[in-house]
Amino acid sequence: MNSNKSSISTIVYMAIAFCTLQLSAQTYAKNGMVVSSNYLSSKTGVAILKKGGNAIDAAIATAFSLTVTLPSAGNIGGGGFIVFMNSEGKATTIDFREKAPLAATNDMYLNREGNLINGLNHMSVKAIGVPGTVAGLYLAHQKYGTLSWAELVQPAVDQAKNGFPFNWSLYEAAGRFTKEENKNSFMNSYFRDESGEVLQPNELWKQPQLAKTLALIRDKGKNGFYKGEVAKKIDQWMKENGGIITKKDLKKYKAIERQPIKGTYKGYEIYSMPPPSSGGVALVEMMNLMELANFDTIEFNSKEYVHLVAEAMRRAFADRAEHLGDPDFNLEMPLGKLTSKEFAKKRFQEIDMTRASVSDSTKFGQLYDGESTTHLSVMDKDGNAVSFTYTLEYSYGSQMGSPELGFIFNNEMGDFNPQSGITKSNGQIGTTPNLVAPEKRMLSSMTPTIVSKDGKPYLVIGSPGGRTIINTVFQTVFNVLEFNMRIDNAIEALKIHHQWLPDQIVYEKHLLSPDTRKSLEAMGHTLRERNNLGALMGITFDSEKRFLRAHRIRHNPIVARPGIDSMLKRLFTPRELTK
Ligand code: DON
Repeated sequence: MNSNKSSISTIVYMAIAFCTLQLSAQTYAKNGMVVSSNYLSSKTGVAILKKGGNAIDAAIATAFSLTVTLPSAGNIGGGGFIVFMNSEGKATTIDFREKAPLAATNDMYLNREGNLINGLNHMSVKAIGVPGTVAGLYLAHQKYGTLSWAELVQPAVDQAKNGFPFNWSLYEAAGRFTKEENKNSFMNSYFRDESGEVLQPNELWKQPQLAKTLALIRDKGKNGFYKGEVAKKIDQWMKENGGIITKKDLKKYKAIERQPIKGTYKGYEIYSMPPPSSGGVALVEMMNLMELANFDTIEFNSKEYVHLVAEAMRRAFADRAEHLGDPDFNLEMPLGKLTSKEFAKKRFQEIDMTRASVSDSTKFGQLYDGESTTHLSVMDKDGNAVSFTYTLEYSYGSQMGSPELGFIFNNEMGDFNPQSGITKSNGQIGTTPNLVAPEKRMLSSMTPTIVSKDGKPYLVIGSPGGRTIINTVFQTVFNVLEFNMRIDNAIEALKIHHQWLPDQIVYEKHLLSPDTRKSLEAMGHTLRERNNLGALMGITFDSEKRFLRAHRIRHNPIVARPGIDSMLKRLFTPRELTK
């Protein structure tokens, strides 16, 4: 990849990057970009772009690398979604969501009295779904990749084998998992060196078992995971630990290419993930509804604005609960209706601008999600774009794995509705489309999204955050398309979340003034403050100036681009780490 950057852009970049150490930043590039949650992994993707790989190649290499560097969410033991748009604006998606094992049943989390057994669907060996990540990456490569598969997996093999500096968030997790009272032997030994000592910040963390598993995937492709030695060991581990995933489940797993959900907003085209994610449908439904409002008279973040946004969310989440699930098991989902402009009109008319609606818990509800998923956005020099979100569900998933294989299993089965017909206002949900069934995919909220302008990729966006994903992506897309906000401002703008049930507006600290809070409460809303929502990672393409602008929310932005790796490394790496 050529790196014809002017010194001016480098200076601008440096100045901005320097600020990011304290707060947050945007950055620019001409030749391609990778935005992910780990610097080393973003850099891995950039190296692939420099080698001549396209956005799909870079996303695959970054995702394998995140398995090594970000084991709380980066994974080969979980699943997720890719939205891909080529430089001509043609979009497609890859679904590699986990599946329920063949032995799963719709009452598998209930006791004899038919009551939900506390925690069984979220934190137990029975919460593990059949992993989809390797199949998804493999399918994406077969259909749209350009470099060899081995070239894309090799960097992760090297990172696992040779090690990388143990960072602060890993060290904090190690502190939690290695406490004496933690009886989870897999996680207890996960963050230790060969002599059994817990790793300290900056020490090299080597993962030899993971390196071996990744090498098999490198050499045998998808079969390196779903057949042979790895499959055999997963099967064996499941048998020894009371799990229900078998070799047959692994052999039968297939990633699926699906048509994206498509919507429009004032001339822009929105492409996002269809079921088994609910993200795309809910996003388009909310954008359609917002298109009907007049923002010359509704001021950004005023009480009317927050009310309208919350009411749009309430409705989209109610529809999500009622209708959405795995499309292979729900052949009649009204996707066309839910994403139509006509339906948005009906929904819009129901909103009373002076009063909060009431979410009816006798009908449907929502559960809160776990803490960890990760998103990456990529654009290459030709303008191809990838929006990629994958997850283990909770942070470190089920917190279980085979020590011989070195990776963590998901706990995604918790995303199914656990108890048929039982819906509570706190939000346990019991609707039919998302009940457990053998080989079914559980409903997701992940919302990898690409917006095109004049038929070409313009905005690439996504986030972790469970149910909040849909709403943080929605507000970011809306901020850019309606208010023409720059991507960094759109991402940084404080946000709200309403998910129908529990019936409350969750708002980011400092968003609402005391007066606005009082007014919203007087309208009938319940408010709950939260420190932050989401961790958005976005890229926009300025077609006139032909540059990319990227941003990752708050915390510590980690963005890499061709040509300036060494500088980035200095800026983003505390001095101690470079020793
Ligand atoms: O697929 C889903 O919607 C959830 N399993 C995602 C979980 C999640 O985002 C937790 N992270 N922050």
